[in-house]
Amino acid sequence: MIPRVTVDKILDAALVEEVVGEFITLKKRGTNLLGLCPFHGEKTPSFTVSAVKGIYKCFGCGKAGNSVNFIMDHLQLSYPEALKWLARKYNIEVIEKEITPEEREQQTERESMLIVMQYAQRYFTETMMNTDEGKSIGLGYFKERELRDDIIAKFQLGYSLEERNAFTKAAVKSSYAPKYLAKTGMSIVSNRYVEGKELAEADLFDRYAGRVMFPIQDDGGRVVAFGGRTLSTDKKTAKYINSPETEIYNKSKILYGLWLGKKAIQNNDACYLVEGYMDVIAMHQAGIENVVASSGTSLTVDQIKSIHRFTRNIIVLYDGDEAGQKASNRAIPLLLEEGMNVRLLQFPNNDDPDSYSRKVTIQEFQDYIKNSTDDFLYFKAKKLKTETANDPIKRAGVIKDIVENIAVIPDNIIRSIYIKECANIMEIEESILQLEVNKIRRKGSKSSSSQSQRPSGQQTGTQNQSTSEEGAFDPASLDDTSFMEAAPESELYGFDAEEEKLLCLLIKYGNMLITTQAEDEVNMEHELEITLGEFIIFELWRDEIVYENPLYKMVLDEYIEQLKQQNLPNIEHFLRSPNPIVSSFIINHVIDKYEISPKWKNFGVLVPKEIDNAKRDAQRSLFSFKSRKLSHFIHEKQMELKTISYEDSLKVLEELKHLDSLKGRVNKLLGREVIK
Ligand code: CTP
Ligand code: MN
Repeated sequence: MIPRVTVDKILDAALVEEVVGEFITLKKRGTNLLGLCPFHGEKTPSFTVSAVKGIYKCFGCGKAGNSVNFIMDHLQLSYPEALKWLARKYNIEVIEKEITPEEREQQTERESMLIVMQYAQRYFTETMMNTDEGKSIGLGYFKERELRDDIIAKFQLGYSLEERNAFTKAAVKSSYAPKYLAKTGMSIVSNRYVEGKELAEADLFDRYAGRVMFPIQDDGGRVVAFGGRTLSTDKKTAKYINSPETEIYNKSKILYGLWLGKKAIQNNDACYLVEGYMDVIAMHQAGIENVVASSGTSLTVDQIKSIHRFTRNIIVLYDGDEAGQKASNRAIPLLLEEGMNVRLLQFPNNDDPDSYSRKVTIQEFQDYIKNSTDDFLYFKAKKLKTETANDPIKRAGVIKDIVENIAVIPDNIIRSIYIKECANIMEIEESILQLEVNKIRRKGSKSSSSQSQRPSGQQTGTQNQSTSEEGAFDPASLDDTSFMEAAPESELYGFDAEEEKLLCLLIKYGNMLITTQAEDEVNMEHELEITLGEFIIFELWRDEIVYENPLYKMVLDEYIEQLKQQNLPNIEHFLRSPNPIVSSFIINHVIDKYEISPKWKNFGVLVPKEIDNAKRDAQRSLFSFKSRKLSHFIHEKQMELKTISYEDSLKVLEELKHLDSLKGRVNKLLGREVIK
C-alpha cells in the first residue's frame, strides 16, 4: 500500500498535460490541448486534454480519465503500479514495504513478467561488467565496436554467459518463478518436460546463452524484450535472436529507441528511422537522439502510428544494400499512407549509420545527416527522370510507380503539391499526373477494405467507436481497465435518467449548504441547515429507493461511503478515484460536454449557472423520481392482482390505495415545484 499522503503528492505533481505529453505531442487549441489519440488509430486529432480540469477525453473513441487513468490504460498498469510509475517520473519517494508473499500473489501476470525482465536486464549488465567472461567477451565486443562507456550504460547493454543455463539458474536462485522465466521467453522449456508437471529449473535452459544483450523498452521505459546478438561469425547461427511475442511484448507495436528518443523527437519535430539496434546506438553516440528502429519485424502500421503521435516528419535511413532497399520499399508507402512527411537519407558506399559514423568525426556525421536528406518523392522523381532520360517508353512505365506513392497520401492539399512538383521535375503535364493519381484513388475507394483511402477529416463521433480502424482494438490486450468503455452504460435501465440526474447534482453541488424544514421528536418544525448531498441521500434513504443501474449505484455507494467517513466528497475526489469506472463516469456525465468539447466553442452556447438552481433542481428530481417509482410499483401491484386469489387481493388493493395517495401527494409537490 502506498500511503495516502504520497498518493496525494503524486496526484498533485502529475499534471495531465505533462503526463499525456510524454506520449503524444499536444498542440494548443483554445483552452484545451489536442493530439492524436494513442488508444485508437487516427490521422486527425480528436484527443483532447483539459489542463484546467486535469482530464483527457478522446472524442473519437470515448476514452477519458485523469493522468493516472492514462498511465494505467496506456502502459497497462494496475492503479498502484501506475502511481509508482508517476512517482518515478516526478522523483517522489515511495516508501514501500518488502513485498509479502500474499502481495506477490496479487501481482498481475503482466507485472510479474515485467519484474522478471527488469531482473534479467540488471543480471546481464552485472554479468558483463563484473565477470571475467563478461568483461573479456561481452564488454570486449562493444569496445571493439567503439561504444563509449556512457552509451553502454545508457542502453543498458549486457552479456549472457555461454553456460547454457547460467541465467535460469541465477534467476531461480533469486526466487523468480520458472513459470515466468518461460512466459517471458527468457528461458526455453526443454522438450523433455512433461506437460502438467510444475515447471522446474531443470526443465529450462537459457534462450540467449553466449550473446550480447540489447534490452528493448516500451514507451514507458520498461524492459519488455531483448535482442541478443551472437558473437560467432558462423553463417549458420542467427545473428540476432529476439524475445518471442508475449503478453508484454507486442512486436508490431514496440519501437527500439522510442523511450530514449521521444523527448528529442518532440523537440526536433522529426524522427530518424534506422534498421538496427546498433544504428540507433551509434546515432546517440554521435549526439543524434531522435531515432528509432523497428525491432525484430519490418515496420508496421502500429509502429508508424506511435511515431506519428510525436511528429509527422520522418527521415528514413535504411542501408543501401538490397535488403535495406527492399525494407524501405515496403515501409515508405505505409508511411505516406499514414500521412507522414517522408524524407530519405542514404550513406555513401552502402554504409549504415553505425559503420558510417565510425568513419567520420561526430561533426562530419551530424553535417552529413543534416544536409543530405531529400524529400522522398522528389528524390524518386529526379531519379526516374535521369534513369529514363533517353527512353520514353520506359519512362511511361515508371511514372506509374511514383503515381502509386502519391495516390496514398491522405491529405488533399499535400497530394496536389506533390503532383505539381513531381510533374515539374519529371517534365510532364501536371494534368496527366493528376489524372493517373485520380484513377488509382478511385480504384482504391471502391475496394472497401482500403480504409486509408477515406478522406481525412471524416472521422467524427461514434463512427470510430467501431473496431475497424487498424490497430485500434486488440481483444487480447484487455485487462481490468478496459471496462471503462465496456461498462453497462448502454443497456437500458428503467430509471437511468433520474438516477443519473441526481448523481450529477450530488457530485457537483453536494457540498452546498441548504436550509430545509425538519420535525423534531415533539413534532416541532425547525429550520435545519444541511448539505444538498445529505438532503438527497436522506430523501432516497427515507423512501428506500435503491439505485438499479449498477454503474450509477457504484458511484452513489462511493458517495455514501465518503459521507459516512465524515468527508465532503467533491468532483476532485471522484476524478481521483482509483476506480476507472467512477472517474470516467464523472468525465462523461458530470463535467459539461460544452465545457470541454472543442466543437461547441464556436456556437456560443450559454450554459446556465446551474448552481443557482441546484436545490430546486434536486427537489424536482427527487419528486419526479419518486413519482415514477410509485407508478412503477402501482403497475407491478396491478399485474399481481391478475394472478392472485380474492383473499390475497384485498391486501394488495389496500397497498394500491396507499401507493396511489402517496403518488397524489408527490405529484402535488412536484406540481408546486414546477410552477414555483
Ligand atoms: N535482425 C533480427 N534478426 C536477424 C537479423 C536482423 O532481428 N537475424 C534485426 C535486428 O533488429 C537488427 C536489424 O534487423 O538490428 C538489422 O539487421 P542487420 O543490418 O543485419 O544488423 P545490424 O543492426 O547492422 O547489426 P550489426 O551491425 O551488429 O551487424
Ligand atoms: Mn550494422
